[in-house]
Amino acid sequence: MSKNSSIYICQNCGWSSLRWVGQCQGCNNWNTLVEELTEKSKTGKTISSDEKINDFTIPLSQVEAFKSVKPRLSTFIDEFDRVLGGEKFNRGMVDGAVMLIGGEPGIGKSTLLTQVVVSMLAKTSKGKRGNELGKNGKIAYVCGEENPAQVALRINRLKETDYDQDNLIFITSTNVDSVIKAVKKIEPKVVVIDSIQTMTTFDLAGSAGSVGQVRECTERLTGIAKALDVPIFLVGHVTKEGTISGPKVLEHIVDSVLELSGDRTGDLRILRAIKNRFGATDEVGVFRMRDFGFESVSNPSELFLEYADVGVPGSATVCVMEGTRPLLIEIQSLVVSSHLAMPRRVGRGIKLSRIQVLAAVLQKHCNLPLGSHDIFTSVAGGFNVSEPALDLGLAVAIASSLVNMPIKEKAVFIGEVGLLGEIRSVNLLDRRIKEAKRLGFQRIISKKTHSSVKNVLKEFGLLKKF
Ligand code: TYD
Ligand code: MG
Repeated sequence: MSKNSSIYICQNCGWSSLRWVGQCQGCNNWNTLVEELTEKSKTGKTISSDEKINDFTIPLSQVEAFKSVKPRLSTFIDEFDRVLGGEKFNRGMVDGAVMLIGGEPGIGKSTLLTQVVVSMLAKTSKGKRGNELGKNGKIAYVCGEENPAQVALRINRLKETDYDQDNLIFITSTNVDSVIKAVKKIEPKVVVIDSIQTMTTFDLAGSAGSVGQVRECTERLTGIAKALDVPIFLVGHVTKEGTISGPKVLEHIVDSVLELSGDRTGDLRILRAIKNRFGATDEVGVFRMRDFGFESVSNPSELFLEYADVGVPGSATVCVMEGTRPLLIEIQSLVVSSHLAMPRRVGRGIKLSRIQVLAAVLQKHCNLPLGSHDIFTSVAGGFNVSEPALDLGLAVAIASSLVNMPIKEKAVFIGEVGLLGEIRSVNLLDRRIKEAKRLGFQRIISKKTHSSVKNVLKEFGLLKKF
């Protein structure tokens, strides 16, 4: 390795320096310099004279994936496969895909991936299982954060006991080039890297976890994934700012970004695709963290409604879509008179701007004196909802708490609320209604039944004179 194989380049203006400096001399911005390899040290980038044009051009009709749909590699965890993408009966990962799993420390990324690995290695005794990896399909697990003993302890906690122990190979090196060498030798069917922040290459001087190292290692791993057609999972820590490894450096390199989130104090975890080249980005997988690892929640509506306190002032049930799945959840609100010049609006799992708009609509069109009240709202179960279809339920919950009257019937509220107080239609209404009926809700309030919020409040006896 020559001495100056790397160079520091400003991500803002492109100014470069041989040494790291805090402030870019080109644009004067701070902390924008990132270590990169110099062009010279990137080997194999030049075109050799005997390279034929057919080596790197291909007509569409010759592309394998175009000729036939290739089966995806299933993890046998339905909630996980659903997020990875694919059609029914063919869900899972695509050959050569690089999938980044992000989440706060301790949320369960390692647990989820060990569980995936064990599930894939489970033996054929369970009907369909087992054949996916082939007879001797190996899985390589790069444990950079823990040692194999710690991972083994975690595996021992899981419910699955009958799996192919010899084909789970741990790689303990954190040098990305050694890992690549091992992967080439072992030829695993799946690779897990836990975590990408522990990986380094000697070609760069930066420490593990620096933007330069993380980016270079990811690029090298992506190269091997595409070359060997092996799917790779990368675990990525989320920084305090909420982005995966600083300035979203990885998101455009990898094929999919999956985010594991949830309230760390609760047991609910939601896996969501933020980016997915091979599937929909609005799918979610719902899990519960138990003593024996993750438990799939295939019927989340029932779980969320378990928490519902129907018949209490301030509670309303809504139906939102998470991907293709309708989800019934409870919205809670607490409205109390305020002594502040600017009353408080607080939302947990709900956007503040929605609460402000709905409070204004209720004040203007229903004469509710919310200008002198604090409003606290939350989505039960720690769920995050940004869909407009929750508006109507939120408005009803706020009104119900203000007038201190519960919603007497078992009802579901579905609808966006416009600035004129009108109820607007939402997409996939029929599917939401079906789900509500399935769970025993007879009263379903939507644009089909009512034209404005005022009419809804009147019908439920929530319009009082103040
Ligand atoms: P972990 O997967 O180590 O988190 P991450 O890799 O995202 O940092 O998860 C750690 C938490 O999960 C820890 O608080 C213990 C808990 N846990 C369970 O509740 N049940 C289990 O079966 C396991 C293995 C972990
Ligand atoms: Mg971990």
